[in-house]
Amino acid sequence: MKDNQPLLESYKLEDLTLNNRVVMAPMTRNRADNSESVPTDLHVEYYKQRSGAGLIITEGSQISERAVGYINTPGIYTDAQAEAWKKVTNAVHEEGGKIFIQLWHCGRMSHPKFHDGEKPLAPSAVNPNAQSFTKDGFEDTVEPKAMSLVEIKETVQEFKKAAQKAKDAGFDGVEIHSSNGYLIHQFFNKNSNKRTDEYGGSIQNRARFFFEVIDAINEVWEETKIGVRLNPSLNEVFGIIATEESIPTFDYIIEKLNAYNLAYLHLSEPFTDVSEIDYLVSEIAKHYRPIYKGTLMINAGFDQEKGNNVIKEGNADLVSFAKLFISNPDLPNRFEKNADLAKWDEDTFYTPGSKGYTDYPKLKEETVNK
Ligand SMILES: Cc1cc2nc3c(=O)[nH]c(=O)nc-3n(C[C@H](O)[C@H](O)[C@H](O)COP(=O)(O)O)c2cc1C
Repeated sequence: MKDNQPLLESYKLEDLTLNNRVVMAPMTRNRADNSESVPTDLHVEYYKQRSGAGLIITEGSQISERAVGYINTPGIYTDAQAEAWKKVTNAVHEEGGKIFIQLWHCGRMSHPKFHDGEKPLAPSAVNPNAQSFTKDGFEDTVEPKAMSLVEIKETVQEFKKAAQKAKDAGFDGVEIHSSNGYLIHQFFNKNSNKRTDEYGGSIQNRARFFFEVIDAINEVWEETKIGVRLNPSLNEVFGIIATEESIPTFDYIIEKLNAYNLAYLHLSEPFTDVSEIDYLVSEIAKHYRPIYKGTLMINAGFDQEKGNNVIKEGNADLVSFAKLFISNPDLPNRFEKNADLAKWDEDTFYTPGSKGYTDYPKLKEETVNK
């Protein structure tokens, strides 16, 4: 074990060897060129700076025009977008890094301003009562349009087409964003999915769309190149209100994922305090480690010590870090040197330009260990 830090050990994702188990979690940074939703040269620099991660998972990237929900987010459905992403994947690969793209459909977490005045798509016409970040600032979300069966099938195909573009762009794999209150999560949850057809009602029906998406992507990518992200104890964030069926729903989904030989299952510990809610699970890695047989990646609120411990305890194989990677582009190197970590600036998470994006320095050679 490298200096008693399992985070720094390499890890085999089938034929892909990760240099360490410190994964960069997906983060929307709103720096894409909005005219064509393409990543820019700034993205190339940003991801290259972070290529010391065992694996980079890109920011959520919309799979179609209909999938968008925020300004200045990149897409992965046009040739121009694939070409622009290719510069990113080349830069990361030149540095010896690995990179997956996160495939994103916002569903109802969007606004008519993104869709020529049309309502955003969702499983059911239930307003998340949240806010959408449009070109005019934060605006209240609206009642979305309940997807027709045709629209559901079309959306599954959009995931497949985006997966193909991701391949063209030279990614090592894709992560399905089935988490954090976006379209796929909206299908899972009883409060956002009131359908009475085969996509609603029972747990199996609410999970159906997700498995159709995996199967469609699997026509393009081997299972071992597909990761999925789930947030089983999400409550009162991103418009999702958990129910007594939330954990049984995720138990069913995760059990069923064992039939696939996926790259990984990416889980989040609760984003809010759920200790008082007896039907939610407050220790996600511990709960799902015995259920899931494949590679388990855990996220949310981890630091160097907690990350090493969760692997040592056998509750996860990989740990993803989000905010720490914003301000510490060379995070694994800092862990190795037990160096101090820089604090991130929340004010520049979603603002344009290089400030707070590509201007966080790497560790200086002379920095003294703490
Ligand atoms: C600026 C920012 C943007 C984010 N964007 C995404 C995203 O595009 N997709 C996603 O799945 N999660 C996103 N997240 C959630 C993070 O991946 C992660 O779950 C969260 O920050 C908790 O991890 P941390 O404690 O290591 O920061 C975002 C978080 C932040 C701070």
